[in-house]
Amino acid sequence: MKYRIDKFLSDMGIGTRQEIKNLIKQKRVAINGKTVATASEKADTEADEVMVDNTIIEYVEYEYYILNKPAGVITATTDKHEKTVLDLIDCRRRDLFPVGRLDKDTEGLLIITNDGALSHNLLSPKKHVDKKYFVRVEGRLDAAAAEKFAGGLVVDEEFTALPATLELLGNNEAYITISEGKFHQIKRMMEAVGCTVIYLKRISMGRLNLPEELMPGESRPLTPEELNLLKDNY
Ligand code: URA
Repeated sequence: MKYRIDKFLSDMGIGTRQEIKNLIKQKRVAINGKTVATASEKADTEADEVMVDNTIIEYVEYEYYILNKPAGVITATTDKHEKTVLDLIDCRRRDLFPVGRLDKDTEGLLIITNDGALSHNLLSPKKHVDKKYFVRVEGRLDAAAAEKFAGGLVVDEEFTALPATLELLGNNEAYITISEGKFHQIKRMMEAVGCTVIYLKRISMGRLNLPEELMPGESRPLTPEELNLLKDNY
Protein backbone atom coordinates (compact mmCIF):
# COMPACT_ATOMS: atom_id res chain seq x y z
CA MET A 1 0.00 0.00 0.00
CA LYS A 2 1.26 3.49 -0.87
CA TYR A 3 0.72 6.39 1.52
CA ARG A 4 1.80 10.02 1.63
CA ILE A 5 4.84 10.18 3.88
CA ASP A 6 3.09 12.51 6.36
CA LYS A 7 0.24 10.00 6.76
CA PHE A 8 2.67 7.06 6.92
CA LEU A 9 4.61 8.66 9.77
CA SER A 10 1.65 10.06 11.67
CA ASP A 11 -0.07 6.63 11.51
CA MET A 12 3.08 5.21 13.11
CA GLY A 13 2.85 7.67 15.98
CA ILE A 14 5.86 9.77 14.96
CA GLY A 15 3.94 13.02 15.43
CA THR A 16 1.14 15.17 14.09
CA ARG A 17 1.06 16.05 10.39
CA GLN A 18 2.50 19.49 11.30
CA GLU A 19 5.30 17.96 13.37
CA ILE A 20 6.12 15.68 10.45
CA LYS A 21 6.20 18.63 8.03
CA ASN A 22 8.76 20.19 10.36
CA LEU A 23 10.85 16.99 10.38
CA ILE A 24 10.76 17.04 6.57
CA LYS A 25 11.85 20.71 6.50
CA GLN A 26 14.74 19.78 8.77
CA LYS A 27 15.68 17.05 6.21
CA ARG A 28 15.35 14.30 8.85
CA VAL A 29 13.09 11.99 6.78
CA ALA A 30 14.30 9.70 3.99
CA ILE A 31 12.71 7.17 1.64
CA ASN A 32 15.15 4.56 0.33
CA GLY A 33 18.08 6.73 1.40
CA LYS A 34 16.82 9.85 -0.41
CA THR A 35 15.88 12.85 1.72
CA VAL A 36 12.20 13.68 1.46
CA ALA A 37 11.47 17.17 0.12
CA THR A 38 7.68 17.44 0.53
CA ALA A 39 4.98 15.84 2.65
CA SER A 40 3.14 14.68 -0.47
CA GLU A 41 5.85 12.18 -1.47
CA LYS A 42 4.58 8.61 -1.23
CA ALA A 43 6.09 5.56 0.40
CA ASP A 44 5.15 1.95 -0.31
CA THR A 45 4.53 0.14 2.98
CA GLU A 46 5.90 -3.14 1.55
CA ALA A 47 8.71 -2.07 -0.74
CA ASP A 48 10.18 1.19 0.58
CA GLU A 49 12.54 1.81 3.48
CA VAL A 50 11.42 4.83 5.48
CA MET A 51 13.80 6.44 7.94
CA VAL A 52 13.56 9.24 10.48
CA ASP A 53 16.90 10.34 11.90
CA ASN A 54 18.46 7.12 10.56
CA THR A 55 15.93 4.90 12.37
CA ILE A 56 13.87 2.59 10.16
CA ILE A 57 10.12 3.06 10.62
CA GLU A 58 8.16 -0.09 9.70
CA TYR A 59 4.53 0.41 8.75
CA VAL A 60 1.98 -1.61 10.72
CA GLU A 61 -1.50 -1.73 9.15
CA TYR A 62 -3.30 -3.32 12.10
CA GLU A 63 -2.51 -3.45 15.79
CA TYR A 64 -4.16 -5.81 18.27
CA TYR A 65 -3.86 -5.57 22.06
CA ILE A 66 -5.39 -7.47 24.93
CA LEU A 67 -6.08 -5.45 28.08
CA ASN A 68 -7.15 -6.62 31.50
CA LYS A 69 -9.34 -3.59 32.10
CA PRO A 70 -9.23 -2.40 35.69
CA ALA A 71 -12.23 -0.89 37.46
CA GLY A 72 -12.32 2.91 37.41
CA VAL A 73 -11.32 3.35 33.78
CA ILE A 74 -13.85 4.11 31.05
CA THR A 75 -14.19 2.24 27.75
CA ALA A 76 -13.67 5.14 25.36
CA THR A 77 -10.92 6.47 23.14
CA THR A 78 -10.67 9.94 24.71
CA ASP A 79 -12.28 11.79 27.57
CA LYS A 80 -11.74 15.24 29.04
CA HIS A 81 -11.94 14.14 32.66
CA GLU A 82 -11.68 10.37 32.99
CA LYS A 83 -8.87 7.91 32.33
CA THR A 84 -9.68 5.76 29.28
CA VAL A 85 -8.66 2.25 28.26
CA LEU A 86 -6.57 3.78 25.45
CA ASP A 87 -4.44 5.52 28.11
CA LEU A 88 -3.36 2.04 29.25
CA ILE A 89 -2.09 0.88 25.85
CA ASP A 90 1.43 1.49 24.62
CA CYS A 91 0.55 1.60 20.91
CA ARG A 92 1.92 3.17 17.74
CA ARG A 93 -1.21 3.90 15.74
CA ARG A 94 -3.62 6.65 16.80
CA ASP A 95 -6.75 5.06 15.31
CA LEU A 96 -7.23 2.26 17.83
CA PHE A 97 -10.56 1.65 19.58
CA PRO A 98 -11.97 -0.84 22.07
CA VAL A 99 -13.98 -3.80 20.72
CA GLY A 100 -17.25 -3.43 22.59
CA ARG A 101 -17.76 -1.83 25.93
CA LEU A 102 -17.22 -2.73 29.56
CA ASP A 103 -18.76 -0.53 32.27
CA LYS A 104 -16.47 1.71 34.32
CA ASP A 105 -16.68 -0.67 37.28
CA THR A 106 -16.26 -3.87 35.19
CA GLU A 107 -12.88 -5.58 34.89
CA GLY A 108 -11.40 -8.04 32.46
CA LEU A 109 -10.76 -8.92 28.87
CA LEU A 110 -10.92 -6.09 26.36
CA ILE A 111 -9.52 -6.14 22.82
CA ILE A 112 -8.13 -2.89 21.45
CA THR A 113 -7.48 -2.66 17.71
CA ASN A 114 -7.99 -0.62 14.55
CA ASP A 115 -9.37 -3.67 12.68
CA GLY A 116 -12.99 -2.71 12.04
CA ALA A 117 -13.87 -6.04 10.40
CA LEU A 118 -12.65 -8.04 13.40
CA SER A 119 -14.58 -5.77 15.74
CA HIS A 120 -17.75 -6.11 13.71
CA ASN A 121 -17.46 -9.89 13.61
CA LEU A 122 -16.92 -10.19 17.36
CA LEU A 123 -19.82 -7.89 18.24
CA SER A 124 -22.44 -8.57 15.57
CA PRO A 125 -25.48 -10.25 17.17
CA LYS A 126 -25.72 -12.41 14.05
CA LYS A 127 -22.32 -14.00 14.75
CA HIS A 128 -23.23 -15.07 18.31
CA VAL A 129 -19.70 -14.88 19.70
CA ASP A 130 -19.88 -15.91 23.36
CA LYS A 131 -18.68 -13.56 26.08
CA LYS A 132 -18.11 -15.19 29.46
CA TYR A 133 -18.06 -13.27 32.74
CA PHE A 134 -17.46 -14.02 36.41
CA VAL A 135 -20.14 -12.31 38.46
CA ARG A 136 -20.70 -11.78 42.19
CA VAL A 137 -24.08 -10.52 43.34
CA GLU A 138 -25.98 -9.36 46.35
CA GLY A 139 -28.97 -11.68 46.49
CA ARG A 140 -29.37 -15.34 45.75
CA LEU A 141 -28.56 -17.16 42.54
CA ASP A 142 -30.10 -20.59 42.15
CA ALA A 143 -31.14 -23.26 39.64
CA ALA A 144 -34.41 -21.42 39.00
CA ALA A 145 -32.46 -18.31 37.91
CA ALA A 146 -30.24 -20.47 35.67
CA GLU A 147 -33.35 -21.93 34.05
CA LYS A 148 -34.79 -18.47 33.39
CA PHE A 149 -31.50 -17.37 31.82
CA ALA A 150 -31.41 -20.49 29.63
CA GLY A 151 -34.93 -19.89 28.38
CA GLY A 152 -34.33 -16.29 27.26
CA LEU A 153 -34.93 -13.94 30.17
CA VAL A 154 -37.51 -11.19 29.82
CA VAL A 155 -35.56 -8.24 31.27
CA ASP A 156 -38.16 -5.52 30.64
CA GLU A 157 -40.77 -4.52 28.04
CA GLU A 158 -38.08 -3.65 25.52
CA PHE A 159 -35.52 -6.34 26.09
CA THR A 160 -35.72 -10.12 26.15
CA ALA A 161 -32.24 -11.60 26.36
CA LEU A 162 -31.08 -14.40 24.09
CA PRO A 163 -30.57 -17.68 25.97
CA ALA A 164 -27.62 -17.33 28.36
CA THR A 165 -25.76 -19.90 30.45
CA LEU A 166 -25.45 -19.46 34.19
CA GLU A 167 -22.96 -21.80 35.90
CA LEU A 168 -23.48 -21.48 39.65
CA LEU A 169 -20.36 -21.30 41.85
CA GLY A 170 -22.26 -20.86 45.10
CA ASN A 171 -25.35 -18.87 45.90
CA ASN A 172 -23.93 -15.46 45.06
CA GLU A 173 -21.27 -16.17 42.44
CA ALA A 174 -21.47 -17.59 38.92
CA TYR A 175 -20.07 -17.69 35.45
CA ILE A 176 -22.47 -16.22 32.95
CA THR A 177 -22.10 -16.58 29.18
CA ILE A 178 -23.98 -14.27 26.82
CA SER A 179 -23.77 -13.89 23.05
CA GLU A 180 -24.92 -10.29 22.70
CA GLY A 181 -23.80 -7.03 24.29
CA LYS A 182 -26.70 -4.82 25.27
CA PHE A 183 -26.16 -1.79 27.52
CA HIS A 184 -25.54 -2.96 31.15
CA GLN A 185 -26.80 -6.34 29.99
CA ILE A 186 -25.63 -8.55 32.84
CA LYS A 187 -26.52 -6.02 35.53
CA ARG A 188 -30.02 -5.74 34.06
CA MET A 189 -30.40 -9.51 33.74
CA MET A 190 -29.36 -9.95 37.37
CA GLU A 191 -31.79 -7.24 38.53
CA ALA A 192 -34.54 -9.11 36.67
CA VAL A 193 -33.92 -12.15 38.92
CA GLY A 194 -33.71 -10.03 42.08
CA CYS A 195 -29.92 -9.71 42.35
CA THR A 196 -27.53 -6.74 42.27
CA VAL A 197 -24.12 -7.11 40.64
CA ILE A 198 -21.31 -6.15 43.03
CA TYR A 199 -18.38 -7.45 40.94
CA LEU A 200 -18.14 -8.25 37.24
CA LYS A 201 -15.17 -9.45 35.22
CA ARG A 202 -15.05 -10.64 31.58
CA ILE A 203 -12.92 -13.76 31.36
CA SER A 204 -13.31 -14.80 27.73
CA MET A 205 -14.47 -13.75 24.29
CA GLY A 206 -15.16 -16.64 21.96
CA ARG A 207 -12.22 -19.02 22.27
CA LEU A 208 -9.87 -16.41 23.73
CA ASN A 209 -9.42 -16.47 27.51
CA LEU A 210 -8.03 -13.67 29.65
CA PRO A 211 -4.48 -14.85 30.47
CA GLU A 212 -4.06 -15.43 34.21
CA GLU A 213 -0.76 -13.58 34.35
CA LEU A 214 -2.24 -10.38 32.90
CA MET A 215 -3.02 -8.25 35.96
CA PRO A 216 -5.71 -5.54 36.00
CA GLY A 217 -4.35 -2.51 34.14
CA GLU A 218 -1.85 -4.58 32.14
CA SER A 219 -1.94 -4.97 28.37
CA ARG A 220 0.19 -6.52 25.64
CA PRO A 221 -0.02 -7.21 21.91
CA LEU A 222 -2.08 -10.28 21.02
CA THR A 223 0.08 -13.20 19.89
CA PRO A 224 -0.61 -14.52 16.35
CA GLU A 225 -2.12 -17.66 17.98
CA GLU A 226 -4.48 -15.56 20.10
CA LEU A 227 -5.52 -13.54 17.06
CA ASN A 228 -6.29 -16.78 15.23
CA LEU A 229 -8.41 -17.92 18.17
CA LEU A 230 -10.43 -14.70 17.93
CA LYS A 231 -10.82 -14.99 14.16
CA ASP A 232 -11.87 -18.62 14.50
CA ASN A 233 -15.03 -17.54 16.25
CA TYR A 234 -16.94 -16.56 13.16
N1 URA B 1 -22.82 -6.41 31.24
C1 URA B 1 -22.84 -5.37 32.12
O1 URA B 1 -23.82 -5.13 32.80
N2 URA B 1 -21.73 -4.63 32.23
C2 URA B 1 -20.59 -4.85 31.53
O2 URA B 1 -19.61 -4.14 31.70
C3 URA B 1 -20.61 -5.94 30.63
C4 URA B 1 -21.74 -6.70 30.51
